[in-house]
Amino acid sequence: MNYQKILEEIKEEIIPFLKKGKVADYIPALAKVEVDDFAMSIIKLDGTEYNIGSCQKLFSIQSISKVFSFTLSLDLYGKDLYKRVGHEPSGNPFNSLIQLEYEKGIPRNPFINAGAIVTTDTLVSKYKQNTFPTILEFIKKVSGCQTINFDQDIYKSELEHGYRNLALINMMKSFNNIENNTNDVIETYFKQCSIMMNTKQLAKSMLFLANHGTIPNTNEAIVTEPQAKRINSLMLTCGHYDASGDFAFHVGLPGKSGVGGGIVAVVPQKMAICVYSPKLNKQGNSLVGTKALELFTTKTNLSIF
Ligand code: DON
Repeated sequence: MNYQKILEEIKEEIIPFLKKGKVADYIPALAKVEVDDFAMSIIKLDGTEYNIGSCQKLFSIQSISKVFSFTLSLDLYGKDLYKRVGHEPSGNPFNSLIQLEYEKGIPRNPFINAGAIVTTDTLVSKYKQNTFPTILEFIKKVSGCQTINFDQDIYKSELEHGYRNLALINMMKSFNNIENNTNDVIETYFKQCSIMMNTKQLAKSMLFLANHGTIPNTNEAIVTEPQAKRINSLMLTCGHYDASGDFAFHVGLPGKSGVGGGIVAVVPQKMAICVYSPKLNKQGNSLVGTKALELFTTKTNLSIF
């Protein structure tokens, strides 16, 4: 298959969609982006890469970081983690408060904000002040890139405007589902969201999930095979919030989006993909990114279905 040619076709075919959608502005620093930007990277298990567009451009990974924190927490706590965060789609927006009250402070899954805040809390319980460096080191390892860091301005913007996340963490604290100081946890969560990566680095960082939990080129096992299966299935069913069904319907791959405009996707036993385009659909997922992945699985027949 000529993947480079397929990327070139996709870049042409998404042009009409670049007009649609809206960049995230509830975190003001996120609005300062080139709105028509587009990048897409593919990396196969053998390390062969295909890239198009601004694949070196760094953007904040936002909710894609939830895959890394969930992976670390699952590795530490195993099934016990599910006592504090579920594994069902929420059918609600990523920052919704309503369900959390009904369900007594237990978030539906680790990919909505409440669930990610709980997984970060589980990491703070273990790593204390060293939690963010641990998350960052982990990302450096799985992406094979030592220069990755977070963006201070985006971090500060999240801290200043993160009213809903503060509401979520306080509600969960009231239900005794947050073990640590809420400021320590929320600061770590915001820092992980403001980590800057490009599509090449993000695609590479997902390869272990395409390879039963093991980084292909180093052969280092990150999680067990059953755990890799769980992470992928949660990405499929919950990775795009209340658009997860729609993403599975159109794309048919495990995937995770972030309001920075990135989406990662996994083709089991074959490759990992990352696409970037900052304008979002109503559910907060990259509009062009979703379309590009739909075109990819249609052209290649590489959906899991
Ligand atoms: O906490 C927030 O709202 C953001 N830092 C992350 C949300 C996000 O990326 C949702 N994704 N599509």
